Amino acid sequence: MVSNLNNVIVTAKNDRHISEAQAISERLALPFVAELDSAGLMLRLTAERLELVQAGPDAPGPVYVDFIAGAMGHRRRYGGGRGQLVAKAVGVKKNKIPTLIDATAGLGRDAFVLAKLGCRVQMIERSAVVAELLFDGMRRARQDDEVAEIISRMSLRVADASDYLNGLSEAERPDVVYVDPMHPERSKTAAVKKEMRLFRALVGDDEDDVRLLQAALMAAHKRVVVKRPRKSEAIPGPKPSLVYEGKSTRFDVYLSR
Ligand SMILES: C[S@@+](CC[C@H](N)C(=O)[O-])C[C@H]1O[C@@H](n2cnc3c(N)ncnc32)[C@H](O)[C@@H]1O
Repeated sequence: MVSNLNNVIVTAKNDRHISEAQAISERLALPFVAELDSAGLMLRLTAERLELVQAGPDAPGPVYVDFIAGAMGHRRRYGGGRGQLVAKAVGVKKNKIPTLIDATAGLGRDAFVLAKLGCRVQMIERSAVVAELLFDGMRRARQDDEVAEIISRMSLRVADASDYLNGLSEAERPDVVYVDPMHPERSKTAAVKKEMRLFRALVGDDEDDVRLLQAALMAAHKRVVVKRPRKSEAIPGPKPSLVYEGKSTRFDVYLSR
């Protein structure tokens, strides 16, 4: 599904951030409103960060990117290194650090884990709103000495990944293409579900994953890694060469011939 930006407005939490928030609304061609009185989705600029919020009594908490603290901070400190399932799936070894395109950047969490392992990650995200949240998280993370070094290996481009991959020259082809499309039956834990509800309201389900897998298979020198919920079907197409199964997640690996 092509991202729907029509239902998003941009706002500022207080008067000091109005002009900066207006600049974001102009860049994304989204309406700016000064007051939070709508029940729709809002990109809200606060003193600390840019966040996606929904108005209304039953609304989930804000969605934003935080590479320094929270879950990503914890994973950075205690998440383990090359023993992690994702590292095995991607093929990170002591003397072999693959180049990578993350075709479905989202909030950049997987890309951050891979950059922490030493990979250079070119992230692609087609939702301009999601990308704006990610740019903002990267900007803040560059101000932290420890995290800045990891962020220096990550770059982000707003594009449709199938088109981007199809347009790569031979020299630009990466070792690995990493793919994690939105799936209708993702994790059911309450916390994830709440955050995903907002995220899904913004980007919808990625119903063109077959096309993306085909483009990824053509572009990757060594392998394509697809992240799936553990019990879900593989993306229709060729059978994965290897499967790595975790508690809730599975990685389908397609080795290049
Ligand atoms: C499930 S999220 C990815 C989460 C990400 N792996 C992370 O760790 O934060 C899927 C994201 O991929 C994006 N996406 C899906 N298909 C895409 C495509 N063909 N090109 C670019 N972005 C795509 C969606 O807009 C969405 O933001």
